[in-house]
Amino acid sequence: MVIYTFIYMKILAIETSCDETALALVTAAGGLKKPAFKISAEIIASQIAVHRPFGGVVPNLAKREHLKNLPILYGQIFENSKSEIQSLKKNDLIAVTVGPGLEPALWTGINFAQELGQKLNLLVVGVNHLEGHIYSNWLNHKSQTTNYKSQIIRFPAICLIVSGGHTILLLMTAIDRWKKLGETRDDAVGEAFDKVAKMLDLPYPGGPEVERLARSVSKDYISFPRPMFNEKNYDFSFSGLKTAVLYYIRDRQKDFSSTQFLSDQTKIDKTNDKKIGLEKEKICFSFQWAAIEVLTAKTLRAAEEFKAESILLCGGVAANQVLQETFRSKIKERGLKINFHVPALKYNTDNAVMIAAAAYFNSFSEKKYALEAQGNLSL
Ligand code: KG4
Ligand code: ZN
Repeated sequence: MVIYTFIYMKILAIETSCDETALALVTAAGGLKKPAFKISAEIIASQIAVHRPFGGVVPNLAKREHLKNLPILYGQIFENSKSEIQSLKKNDLIAVTVGPGLEPALWTGINFAQELGQKLNLLVVGVNHLEGHIYSNWLNHKSQTTNYKSQIIRFPAICLIVSGGHTILLLMTAIDRWKKLGETRDDAVGEAFDKVAKMLDLPYPGGPEVERLARSVSKDYISFPRPMFNEKNYDFSFSGLKTAVLYYIRDRQKDFSSTQFLSDQTKIDKTNDKKIGLEKEKICFSFQWAAIEVLTAKTLRAAEEFKAESILLCGGVAANQVLQETFRSKIKERGLKINFHVPALKYNTDNAVMIAAAAYFNSFSEKKYALEAQGNLSL
């Protein structure tokens, strides 16, 4: 059994950058060499039901929900971990996401963190949400735990961040050192998933719905473009792919009435099956496959070029099982000696545990983020 004798730090973390209000109480130890985390509490209040009727996140509604949820979630954490919170001391921290994200939503978390900082007499630090996603790879917990858990990651590593707002490829040479190799020039891949879902009348958030419908198809029937697949750089583009899906749907709708096309597929006359049967499922499959082919091809090319020992996948789209499996199978097919890492499912999408992890790693550097909402903060 490993005994952690190093200085440890308790972090109360707050995340409100988009549509999840999340709080966590985490103890971190081990420094940059052997980081380990013990999670005492983690709560997320999802706003999916609030935004679903609008087909996407409404910033002012998100703000209203965060304002309502923050004291409730803190009350729950306080009830369950009263003595731990009351014993927080000088070197412990309150960490809060300051960007990127929706500014009205970010402010709610920042203001709440500052009030709490005064009440508990603790230092408040700002965290970059994207760093949170990167560091979610150091969280291998499947559930809340009373033990410290650590995750060893070997460098150099290639890290692919795929979320609703970002698609970024990084070369990491150490836990706290990276270089951006490329990023999307237009839409983020998660955004493309959400927009395609909307075109198909699927509920928000679209990514999981597209993945669910794609599951019943096993062949790439519609050959959508693979933007920037053959370009030698590490940038991405998903706007053209999204538009190709839109044009495809329009063309199909000329052949068949839109109500028929968008209605429950099981009601469609079987005689039309060749043309429109399972159409939504086929579109989801082919769109998803086109996106996954570009993401995995470029990431693996970078891994080979920079002789990476690890590939790290993170961000909401990392929850996609086909994306994860494609990485695993391509690494195996090519006989590459690369460890593939992806966080436990609940740490792919927004959460506060990853914000605590980022605050811990940043505590070893000079890096500081101003305590103000920075909607377009980058890495
Ligand atoms: O990281 P995240 O929770 O929030 C941002 O920081 O943006 O990512 C949300 C994005 C959304 O676009 C959502 O549709 C997508 O992640 N997503 C998925 C899946 N689960 C979530 N995309 C594809 N497949 C999934 N299973
Ligand atoms: Zn996120």
